[in-house]
Amino acid sequence: MTAPENKPAQTLAALGAAQPEQVVALFTEILARFDADSAVARDEGSWKHLRDTWLGRKSGVLTQITDNWLKPATSELKRVVGQELNKLRAHVEAQIEARKLAIEAGSDESALARERVDLSLPGVTRPVGSHHLIRQVFQQIEDIFVSIGFSVVEGPEIETPYYNFEALNIPEFHPVRDDMDTFYIDLPEGAPTPLLLRTHTSPMQIRTMEKRQPPVRVIVPGKVYRRDNPDATHSFAFHQVEGLAVDTDITFCDFTGTIEYFVKEFFGPGVKTRFRPSYFPFTEPSVEFDVTCVFCGGSGVSAGGGTCSKCKGAGWIELFGAGMVDPAVYGFVHYDPKKVSGFAFGIGIDRLAMLKYGIDDIQVFFQNDLRFLRQFP
Ligand code: FA5
Repeated sequence: MTAPENKPAQTLAALGAAQPEQVVALFTEILARFDADSAVARDEGSWKHLRDTWLGRKSGVLTQITDNWLKPATSELKRVVGQELNKLRAHVEAQIEARKLAIEAGSDESALARERVDLSLPGVTRPVGSHHLIRQVFQQIEDIFVSIGFSVVEGPEIETPYYNFEALNIPEFHPVRDDMDTFYIDLPEGAPTPLLLRTHTSPMQIRTMEKRQPPVRVIVPGKVYRRDNPDATHSFAFHQVEGLAVDTDITFCDFTGTIEYFVKEFFGPGVKTRFRPSYFPFTEPSVEFDVTCVFCGGSGVSAGGGTCSKCKGAGWIELFGAGMVDPAVYGFVHYDPKKVSGFAFGIGIDRLAMLKYGIDDIQVFFQNDLRFLRQFP
């Protein structure tokens, strides 16, 4: 509001208002200007400007009217100026307060609108993970053996040499230790026994037989560790399932029948098994189980007509080692070898999974590559 329009800055005399009607007309004009100013005060900043322009103590419009119109007014006009000024002040103050409330409510509303939760929107879908293929294969194996009366036990991954070797009939200087004698834990001097990461799940044969009397039928899934250099079929950490069945009348036929049942359940009825003589210090006799090549159906010939690269033309693939429990082992767990007999096996899970699912590199199990893992939901 600037001169010359700024009538409140001038006296009534200067404005030529000598009659009460002229004074009323001036107030009407001022009120209309206030209403126009007030209408554009839509946010906090413009509202403050409105308030200061009209109610400011030093130079607000109402102060100017008081100073320039009321105070110097002639005695005939003073009354009407006072009445009109009071009406104007009441209107201005009420309007300014009303605008303030409206602006606050408006900003509350817009904040509410911004923050409102729309319950009709679809929720945030978290991707559901799945079991790692190795865990899935563990589960398949457990289901098969549990269905024929085995129970599942687990054991420590850090073992003593006694359980990992000696009680399995592998004395300190036995050559089979060369492949496995590794990953010892650094212990303080004077520790009662050395400790190592178990190299197979077979120590759980001993721990189970120490705790239970025959009949014993358990499988032991778990991680094992060896000094093997990583390549397509070797890892320094891998997975095994141990199996052990001991009772008073278990024969070699029970043994082969159980393994054959497992292999057919796991790979499907089309596969055939065979066993070959092998050697483990804790089984006698010991065997390696082979299965007809799942890639070429046992023919040794690939789909393209060449030699099957997976079984190298043999038609058979080595699956795992097993055997009848060596009577020497019973001595370590105080079973009477004349009364009991049994069989044990140790399945390499990673290689079994590779065979079943046609995977040609064991390392993919440990790389956590989602492109691989998502193929096995
Ligand atoms: C053993 O570990 C015996 N404890 C198995 C056993 C148990 C025999 C009970 C008799 C009675 P072996 O060293 O062959 O055996 O290993 C068993 C399986 O583990 C192998 O057939 C293979 O599938 C897997 N395996 C061995 N070394 C590795 C490796 N570095 N990476 C991945 N898999 C391996």
